[in-house]
Amino acid sequence: MKLSIVILAAGQGKRMNSDRPKVLQPLAGRPLLGHVIATARTLEPTAIEVVYGHGGEQVRAAFAGESVGWALQAEQLGTGHALMQAMPSIADDHLVLVLYGDVPLIRRETLAALVALAGPRAMSLLTVQLPDPTGYGRIVRDADGRVQRIVEQKDATPDELAIREGNTGVMAVPAGLLRQWLGRLRNANAQGEYYLTDVVEMAVADGVAVRPLVAPTVPEVLGINDRLQLAEVEAEYRRLRARALLQAGVTLADPARIDVRGTLETGRDVFIDVNVVFEGHVRLGDRVRIGPNTVVRDSSIGADTQVFACCVVESATIGASCNIGPFARFRPSSQLADEVHVGNFVEVKNSRMGNASKANHLAYVGDATVGARVNIGAGTIVANYDGANKHRTTIGDDAHTGSNSVLVAPIVVGEGATVGAGSTVTKAVPAGKLTVARAKQVTLEGWKRPVKAPKGGV
Ligand code: UD1
Ligand code: CA
Repeated sequence: MKLSIVILAAGQGKRMNSDRPKVLQPLAGRPLLGHVIATARTLEPTAIEVVYGHGGEQVRAAFAGESVGWALQAEQLGTGHALMQAMPSIADDHLVLVLYGDVPLIRRETLAALVALAGPRAMSLLTVQLPDPTGYGRIVRDADGRVQRIVEQKDATPDELAIREGNTGVMAVPAGLLRQWLGRLRNANAQGEYYLTDVVEMAVADGVAVRPLVAPTVPEVLGINDRLQLAEVEAEYRRLRARALLQAGVTLADPARIDVRGTLETGRDVFIDVNVVFEGHVRLGDRVRIGPNTVVRDSSIGADTQVFACCVVESATIGASCNIGPFARFRPSSQLADEVHVGNFVEVKNSRMGNASKANHLAYVGDATVGARVNIGAGTIVANYDGANKHRTTIGDDAHTGSNSVLVAPIVVGEGATVGAGSTVTKAVPAGKLTVARAKQVTLEGWKRPVKAPKGGV
């Protein structure tokens, strides 16, 4: 059967105490709904429909680039009513897979298994065994274990409340039958809502098979209603990502102190120390070592490079066998060749540095093209900004800049040139020569240090 996926995401999330709609709350840096859409995509459905309501325009805007359909549920009258809003765009011969926008860790494998259980005359239902299913709808089975219906917590009898099998809300239902059943829903229940869960009883009455699947893992069905649950799911996500890295052969100083908010590709024998955050798409080559308290975003780091403690690396391509940090910062768009050293309190922005070049201490390298074997002395500043425009600087191979020198861009420092310490250079620095641009040192003979006038004196 063709597959249509509907993601219910109209709930307000009052308990978040936030101005942001619940499904836009970030998990690992990405909105909850983004996780669900990404997983839904892996099933290659014909269409994905998102039912939205609260914070509507904000939600749609956050996913403007996604090819999903949007169905507005103007008033939140229940899960059945929500699903109904998406049905007009779904053909009768499709299978409808219902997901929740606030259940972000649901796994592709589980959904594939659930979809495989359903068919033209069979619906499937994802359930979960919980020691404490408070808040969940309960799965009522008959003596032979066949699912009879779902009863919501607020409508359940004490006997029903003792049932430990909860409804996750995720189900796969043939669209034609679903449409009929949704049309028959009534809201005569404790919450005055149109419960999607009531379709189970209708299926049973119509002789349609209801096939339960108990969720293989609990975290994947956890819903998020408040910030405590959000933090718990974030921790679970962290564990999952850390485990995958360990299995791939990465050494983690502490699996509980690494955050991967995006994709991380790793070579062999990579070591990652504590409190490291990866964002966007990051690639680490073989034997890369990342020191503690470091953030790496959208960057690639070559084999055998070491990043020492407390660095921030953003949109950089770093070569092999480099030494970075401690306390180095890369702002977007830098390329380092191999064996480059960028040391403490050095900021590099939109620059290239050639093989074996070094900026070991206290420097700013902005909008510069630096050749090979260049030594950028401590305190060298590339003054790339004139207050209105940015200008480029070129530093030739084997050049050295002295401590505390200012290179006022646009400027070219020739190959093998040396800029004397404390120089402010504003014109081309010739190759192979020493250029000094600072006041000459003078010593005043016979100069006397002033002394204080005596107190109370004339
Ligand atoms: C629902 C199920 C319950 C299940 C629980 C799992 C029903 C009647 N009950 O309960 O059996 O154990 O989920 O978490 O289905 N939503 C809308 N529009 C609405 C109402 C909800 O889009 O009018 C969306 C929410 O944004 C959320 C999802 O549906 O993503 C579930 O809503 P929620 O209110 O959390 O469901 P419960 O009533 O707690
Ligand atoms: Ca819920």
